[in-house]
Amino acid sequence: MRTPLIAGNWKMNASLAANATLLAGLLGDEAGVSAELAVCVPAPYLAQVQSVLGGSAVRWGAQDASAHERGAFTGEVSAEMLLDFGCTYVIVGHSERRSYHAESDELVAQKAQRALASGMTPIVCVGETLEERERGATDVVVARQLAPVLDAMGTQLASMVIAYEPVWAIGTGKTATPEMAQQVHARLRAMLAERNTESAQQVRILYGGSMKPDNAKDLLAMPDIDGGLIGGASLNVSDFLSIAHAA
Ligand code: 13P
Repeated sequence: MRTPLIAGNWKMNASLAANATLLAGLLGDEAGVSAELAVCVPAPYLAQVQSVLGGSAVRWGAQDASAHERGAFTGEVSAEMLLDFGCTYVIVGHSERRSYHAESDELVAQKAQRALASGMTPIVCVGETLEERERGATDVVVARQLAPVLDAMGTQLASMVIAYEPVWAIGTGKTATPEMAQQVHARLRAMLAERNTESAQQVRILYGGSMKPDNAKDLLAMPDIDGGLIGGASLNVSDFLSIAHAA
């Protein structure tokens, strides 16, 4: 049985004051949630999040990590540093990093491997653009994105989380239908199973892309959708918790 994971991706939205309110709200109402909850926050706020959430059941993480271990890489944050602040998760390969920072599939795989080597769980994002979906290339694209990551994970396949985030559904209010998402999730799990059937059953595959309280239940009811990676709705405590309650 896979425990559902509802992870918030705050993206570049945060301030000490806003975080304090949001985190207090989460802690006030997370008791009734059976899913695992996590928030992936901008790196400067990790100390704040660690001090507020430490000791609670809510986990936290970052939104990116360097592919390098340490050294002269100005501006980068290493996986080891994130671990210092108690991160359980780190998102890698989000489509915003792939498109605005030209991150390749290979770089994403290196980041995932580094995160894993440092003792964190990478949440590896894959997903097609609208143009790719319209020309029927969804399966080919997500397979191309995932393949180097699976190579990099080796025998530790079960220690990763995958997030399927169709680019056209991110922040647009358009959501993949539960059936559309399930089809891709099943394809991703089949790819995992080609490497290791047991691990394939353990890996959680999250859906991300305009997941909201009103569509979460139907998406999360699909057999291969094991949670959500939530952008906009994770900035609103009641929306985020209502999605968590649906899981
Ligand atoms: P939205 O939920 O705002 O569409 O963002 C999804 C996402 O990109 C999560 O990583």
